[in-house]
Amino acid sequence: MKDVKAATAKLTIEGRSIDLPILRPTLGPDVIDIRSLYKEAGVFTLDPGFGSTASCESAITFVDGDAGQLLHRGYPIEELAEKSTFLEVAHALLYGDLPDRAQLIEFEDRVTRHTMIHEQMHNFFCGFRRDAHPMATLVGVVGAMSAFYHDSTDITDPWQREVASIRMIAKLPTIAAMAYKYSIGQPMIYPKNDLPYASNFLNMCFAVPAEEYRIDPIFAKAMDRIFILHADHEQNASSSTVRLASSSGANPFGCIAAGIACLWGPAHGGANQACLETLREIGTKDRIPEFIKRAKDKNDPFRLMGFGHRVYKSHDPRATVMKESAHEIFELLGTKSNPILEVATELERIALEDDYFIERNLYPNVDFYSGIILDAMGFPTSMFTPIFAIARTVGWVSQWREMISDPHQKIARPRQLYTGAAARDYVDMGNRKS
Ligand code: CMC
Repeated sequence: MKDVKAATAKLTIEGRSIDLPILRPTLGPDVIDIRSLYKEAGVFTLDPGFGSTASCESAITFVDGDAGQLLHRGYPIEELAEKSTFLEVAHALLYGDLPDRAQLIEFEDRVTRHTMIHEQMHNFFCGFRRDAHPMATLVGVVGAMSAFYHDSTDITDPWQREVASIRMIAKLPTIAAMAYKYSIGQPMIYPKNDLPYASNFLNMCFAVPAEEYRIDPIFAKAMDRIFILHADHEQNASSSTVRLASSSGANPFGCIAAGIACLWGPAHGGANQACLETLREIGTKDRIPEFIKRAKDKNDPFRLMGFGHRVYKSHDPRATVMKESAHEIFELLGTKSNPILEVATELERIALEDDYFIERNLYPNVDFYSGIILDAMGFPTSMFTPIFAIARTVGWVSQWREMISDPHQKIARPRQLYTGAAARDYVDMGNRKS
């Protein structure tokens, strides 16, 4: 923070004035520090959904929702998506800067050596029903890592924190691919450590022991870019869940499992699956108006998935890159006219000209185009959110590490505006009204 306490906000409650420091961030709006408010004034603040509340201090990611800007450690997402690899971005998020060549080799080597999972965990998968959603399996298996990797659960030990971080980043693709293979009844494929991160994941998902699988370089690049675009997004619901869970000192694997559970919700990471399913349901361009009408109808719970964002009130820069990627892929594959891409492009055009969407600043978000790319690669919709989870693990782990090292870190314990019954006397069973 620059110029801490550069200014003061004055709050007057029933004639009594309280001075609250205003903290100045590197970027973004000033922040009124209300930590002493209850002690000094005896009042709470109310902000369900945290629309006006900074829950922590962070130096990892910055989002300017009005300008449509996303920076990781200061680097614009557009440049990272164009020039970087996912593991370079992961290094920046975890350690504060892009790696030099030697650092990258060393980091890639460390991640690669942790891609296999404990052999006994294979049995663990068999306990799940075959038709379980891969996200359900992911929550369970990642949570269970704390039962397999006892030597990296002591969060007070920096070395154990580092090992746990690398383990999660390295093993998430393996676990997600195993969850997929289990759901379709195919043999699980072990990681191949001579392959880059994204290619390794594709191989674990699509290779079978019976025949050779050729990794398409176009898909490998697109996969890596999808990972980059989902890597972190400051204090979103799942990252806040991870921070909240770990504020009690809980083990890192359990905390990341909590983040995965939160991500699965349709308002968050689950939107990519829901979005493609909606595009398929729309099917043809002539049916778009019917769905736009439903999205605007307050008596219909239907929402246009892949549209809108709590923070972005202009273009989501990730969606812009994702859209370009989708068009690039279909062009490179020689299938310029993909029916789902056509419906998506037309839906975006119609929505962006519609007063309802204009007035509410509803633009396509990162999930609008990602599903189209993943579908083209051959992933079923149930794998879309697990893929988001693989990428976001880097963000969760970075946020978790930052929180643990923060000297001001405390157990998260929000208060409430209580609206229940006031204190009253216990009523004996015989005297209760039925
Ligand atoms: N379709 C139709 N109407 C919408 C939509 C939508 N997708 N999103 C918001 N609105 C309307 C909403 O009904 C409300 O209208 P009104 O003011 O008349 O009551 C207004 O826009 C504001 O919506 P909100 O729900 O108060 O906004 P929020 O900031 O709480 O919600 C959101 C943000 C992302 C949950 C929401 O836009 C949404 O549900 N979008 C669809 C799900 C989705 O695509 N989620 C992925 C988000 S990006 C990836 C990620 O972070 O996981």
